[in-house]
Amino acid sequence: MIKQTIMALACAVVSLPAFAADGADAALIKKGEYLSRAGDCVACHTVKGGKPYAGGLGLDSPLGMIYSTNITPDKDTGIGNYTLEDFDRAVRHGVAKDGHTLYPAMPYTSYAKVSPDDVKALYAYFMQGVAPVRQENRDTDIVWPLSMRWPLTVWRWVYAPDVADAVPASASAADQAVMLRGKYLVEGLGHCGACHTPRGVGLQEKALTDADGTAFLSGGVIEGWLAKNLRGDSADGLGSWSQADIVAFLKSGRNSHSAAFGGMAQVVADSTQHLSDEDLNAIAAYLKSLKPVDEKANAKLAYDDKAAQDLRVGRDTSNGALQFLNNCAACHRSTGKGYAETFPQLALSSTVNSSDPTSLIHIVLKGGQMPATQAAPTAYGMPGFDWRLNDAEVADVVTFVRGSWGNKGAAVTASDVAKVRKEIGADPGPKR
Ligand code: HEC
Ligand code: HEC
Ligand code: HEC
Repeated sequence: MIKQTIMALACAVVSLPAFAADGADAALIKKGEYLSRAGDCVACHTVKGGKPYAGGLGLDSPLGMIYSTNITPDKDTGIGNYTLEDFDRAVRHGVAKDGHTLYPAMPYTSYAKVSPDDVKALYAYFMQGVAPVRQENRDTDIVWPLSMRWPLTVWRWVYAPDVADAVPASASAADQAVMLRGKYLVEGLGHCGACHTPRGVGLQEKALTDADGTAFLSGGVIEGWLAKNLRGDSADGLGSWSQADIVAFLKSGRNSHSAAFGGMAQVVADSTQHLSDEDLNAIAAYLKSLKPVDEKANAKLAYDDKAAQDLRVGRDTSNGALQFLNNCAACHRSTGKGYAETFPQLALSSTVNSSDPTSLIHIVLKGGQMPATQAAPTAYGMPGFDWRLNDAEVADVVTFVRGSWGNKGAAVTASDVAKVRKEIGADPGPKR
């Protein structure tokens, strides 16, 4: 009897953190959960079909495969023994509990911007709102001597910024407060720059904030996709998107200009669709404040009907036009205008007009699928053409798209296509 009572008491104590969360704690955990969405921690710390946050997802780096770690509160294999200070050191400073520097595959150079209060909420969530999972961490596949951690420490000294301090930047006007909130989310938890900012010789992001220069969010290639320019450039950036267009894209994964694909489909699915309208508006307002990379050459593109007319009457018999009619026009239409929020327009699209054609080639080879979101549950897809079109044919159709309906993208060659095909491991395609 006494034994049972002790057992019952022991159980009650063990499970205390999860159940005894009073109002204040519960609110903090909830806030931490929201912030974990904003930071998209799940994307890297969960394998497909695996337990949330148990780690083990392989992230390809130029050095080799790096595996994310178990960040559930399991005491032996996760971060159950981390104090708030240990957690903060990992998340914002890039240093694990035992003192080794983390690979910057963990975007701590962005998370450095997160406020101490928000780190506290995240900690509360990871300790009390996440189920512990027993799962050992995997070592990297990086071979010695590249696997030594000390060069990472040097890297951190050189490239990591100072972490945010506790004093919030004071804002007078309300719209300035909105802008600052957007900046905070974009630079910090959102780690948008981890994909959207080009990298330098040390694989560091060339700019961590707008104050570092227009390289910030000017576009970077990640996992074989171009994470596009998010600055004010009209042809290849967000210059022709309104604030509401950006909000719609982040909330539903699509808008009248484009639909999310590649890495962005996952960002929308696990992160941005869960953010509040206020936060999405703040992000959009901040992005709209970013000056174009090239202010002089920032003319808006204008729709031109000629390609549509030529296709309609069969006047254009070039290989590119024929490939387009055979493979693409059913969905994207001969006008290049597609069907809004179903088959995105190719006319005046920033994907199509980006000087780097990586995404355009990639999506033609492997296809894509929009994220299914609460706001737009249907995940329309595009088939891949890697097995059907050879390098020259892909180059022809992509070049046709880049030169039609007012688009001004430069021609793409068969060797550009061959390079992307190899990098992304697409089907070698037909020999003709
Ligand atoms: C872009 C991928 C990515 C995202 C997003 C990401 N992480 Fe990580 N994280 C990693 C990788 C990879 C490691 C392991 C790095 C290493 O072993 O050097 C790691 C390590 C960690 C560690 C250190 C754990 C340990 O064993 O010491 C913590 C804590 C952590 N992440 C928390 C978070 C939190 C909290 C978030 C969201 C706010 C987050 N991570 C988002 C990739 C990511
Ligand atoms: C894991 C990498 C990754 C992260 C992190 C990421 N993006 Fe993206 N993003 C991409 C890729 C790749 C594309 C290109 C595919 C597309 O247009 O959907 C893209 C496209 C976009 C577009 C569409 C641009 C256009 O002209 O069509 C917007 C807007 C955008 N991202 C905003 C953001 C914001 C805001 C954040 C941070 C909250 C963010 N992204 C974080 C990879 C990423
Ligand atoms: C069955 C319909 C279908 C066909 C055929 C098709 N697409 Fe698509 N396409 C889509 C859908 C749906 C998306 C959105 C996919 C996503 O967001 O992941 C898309 C997206 C795109 C995009 C990205 C546009 C943006 O900015 O969001 C480009 C570029 C593109 N397609 C080009 C082509 C080309 C070139 C062909 C022919 C070789 C083609 N598509 C054939 C349905 C189709």
